Amino acid sequence: MPKYVVAGTSEIEPGERKIVELEGRKIGVFNVDGEYFALLDQCPHAGAALCSFGTVFGVSDADKPDGDISYERNRAIRCPWHAWEYDIRTGESFFDPRNARVRKYDVEVVPGSPADVVDPDGGRQKGPFVMEGYAVSVEDDMVVVDTSRRRPARGSRAQAQSRA
Ligand code: FES
Repeated sequence: MPKYVVAGTSEIEPGERKIVELEGRKIGVFNVDGEYFALLDQCPHAGAALCSFGTVFGVSDADKPDGDISYERNRAIRCPWHAWEYDIRTGESFFDPRNARVRKYDVEVVPGSPADVVDPDGGRQKGPFVMEGYAVSVEDDMVVVDTSRRRPARGSRAQAQSRA
């Protein structure tokens, strides 16, 4: 159950991201107005570094055509190569959410400093949380990425996999 401590909450401002490398993969950790999400830094279309170079933007939404419109800041990311757009909360693309999605990782925020939250038995490992080389006290909560679980494939991708 690999979980990695990757950042203090104050290190990633709302609308910002931090790119970390876990198990040989680059992962973007995003702050969507106080909630944290993690996506693989690879666009499913043609492999661009989506999280590193994509543009984060807000999304307007309504339940029905004449319903109230809500606006959510920092909710989506646009790929720098061909402008496919993805929901940062789910990894799904807006034009084909069932088949075009970025791998998403679970994220939790736990209270404490890096020394407090790293588990000596390996349950929660020290990720790329960079501390200064002199006395530093970290007083905010810690962002932890869980790489252990994959979402089950759905739709045509699942059918293709079951045939393979
Ligand atoms: S590589 Fe991302 S849209 Fe083409």
